[in-house]
Parts: sequence; C-alpha cells; structure tokens
Amino acid sequence: MEIITFKDVYKKLGDKQVLNGMNLTIREGEIMVIIGGSGEGKSVTLKHIMGLMKPDAGEVWVNNECVSSMEEDSLYKILSNFGMLFQYAALFDSLNVRENVGFALDEHTDLSDEEKNRIVAEKLELVHLSNIEHMMPSELSGGMKKRVGLARAMARDPQILLYDEPTTGLDPINADVINNLIIELNEKLGVTSIVVTHDMQSVFKIAHRIAMLYKGKIIKVGPKSEFMDPEDPVVRQFVRGEAHGPITDEISSSVLK
Ligand SMILES: Nc1ncnc2c1ncn2[C@@H]1O[C@H](COP(=O)(O)OP(=O)(O)O)[C@@H](O)[C@H]1O
Ligand SMILES: [Mg+2]
Repeated sequence: MEIITFKDVYKKLGDKQVLNGMNLTIREGEIMVIIGGSGEGKSVTLKHIMGLMKPDAGEVWVNNECVSSMEEDSLYKILSNFGMLFQYAALFDSLNVRENVGFALDEHTDLSDEEKNRIVAEKLELVHLSNIEHMMPSELSGGMKKRVGLARAMARDPQILLYDEPTTGLDPINADVINNLIIELNEKLGVTSIVVTHDMQSVFKIAHRIAMLYKGKIIKVGPKSEFMDPEDPVVRQFVRGEAHGPITDEISSSVLK
C-alpha cells in the first residue's frame, strides 16, 4: 500500500526550478533511498513530505492526506507521524542525552517523568546506547551523536522515518553501524524509511527500492537490482561515480557558455 505520493510537484527556490514535475510513490514499510547529486533537491523533497515546504504546483499526499494543502494547525498534528534524522545530528549542545532524546516528550506530552524516562531508555536501547542519559553532546563521538539523534527521532513512535544523509561525515565503520540500524529499525518497528544519500555503498546495502532525482524529476525508480548495471547513461554515471558522462558534460558545457 502506498503511504507517500508526489503528484507532479513543482517548486522554484530563488531562480532555480528545484522540483520540476516530480512524481514518486513510496510504499508502506519499505526502505526507499532517494539518490541524486548535491543541490538536486533531496532535502527539499524531505521538507515537502513533512509539509514544511509547499509546492508551487502539484500535491504531496501522506497517509491519504494532502499535506501540501494543509493548514498549519493540522500539519502540526501530523508532524508526530515523522521522525527525522538530520544531516548533522543537530543535538542541543546545552542539553544532556536524556533531555535531547526526550525533548518532544517534554514539550508535547503530559506524561510523567517516570514514563518519559522509561521511553528515553527504551529508544536509547534501540540504537544500542544504554545508560548514557547523563552525558552531554560534547562528550559523544560523531557516530554516537547520530545514534542519539536517531533515538530522539523515534521518541514519539513515528510511522515514517526520514534520514537526510545519515552517514555523511562518518568513517566507514560508524557509517555501517548507522546502516545496520536503519535496516534493524525498519524490520523491528515496521516503519517506512526514506533515506536521502549519495553514498552508493550505503544505498546498495539498505535500499529496498531506489529513486534517482535529477533535474527536478525522478528519472528512475525501482528495486536496487535495476541500479546495479543501469542502461540510462545519467543513472549509470551517478551510480558508478564516474567523472565523465552526461551529468558532468552538461555542467562543463553550461559553464563554458
Ligand atoms: N530555502 C531555500 N531558499 C532558496 N534556495 C533554496 C532553499 N532551500 C534549498 N534551496 C536550493 O534548492 C536546491 C536544492 O537544495 P537541497 O534540496 O538542499 O539539495 P540537496 O539535494 O543537496 O539536499 C539548491 O540549489 C539549494 O541552494
Ligand atoms: Mg541535502
């Protein structure tokens, strides 16, 4: 069953047509990985799913609700459906791990302290980090910060987890820890996971399906087997990380013009 649908979405930012007739359907429970170069609109796509950005034209549907035409107060109510892991873990430096992970619970619920502490401990356990509630972000490694960020994203049991370049800035081992967690949480909790990345090693490890964003459109979507040896020269160049091909030829010719 589909859970998220982009219907012919257009979005211009500054003088750039970032989304240019984007169509994409994401199925409940899958790990969908959206790939694309820097500045192609991957983060903008995630913001449209959460309703934080509105399209100029077209619609974005989540759970049979049109988030792109929703008023602020209804949007606010559905935000708890989403857990978001940002590119930089973005923890509050002045708050300890307990306060960071439980932030949304402290702000938006009337649960007792015992109950909130129990939930925080449970979420930390899910990312394999127990008993670090008292630690400050400055005492954590980059990989631990990401995992605490992930525990925070799950505080309110979201149905959809959004990951914006979750392995960027991590060494290969810590990146693999995050990739394993993405898979584990998807399987264990049954959440729908949307991962934006250009780290192809991660893509092939975690994806159920892959969608490639290029010039504001999804130019190819399918199971990862279809991305191993793609025919489309643009997809092929990107997946293989080659310096020469249609993507870069176009950039260099437009610079020379
Ligand atoms: N709020 C904004 N105002 C103006 N331009 C923006 C804004 N957000 C993103 N952009 C531009 O839109 C394009 C896509 O951005 P983004 O989605 O962040 O790319 P990426 O694929 O690297 O995540 C970029 O050219 C970026 O500069
Ligand atoms: Mg981005």
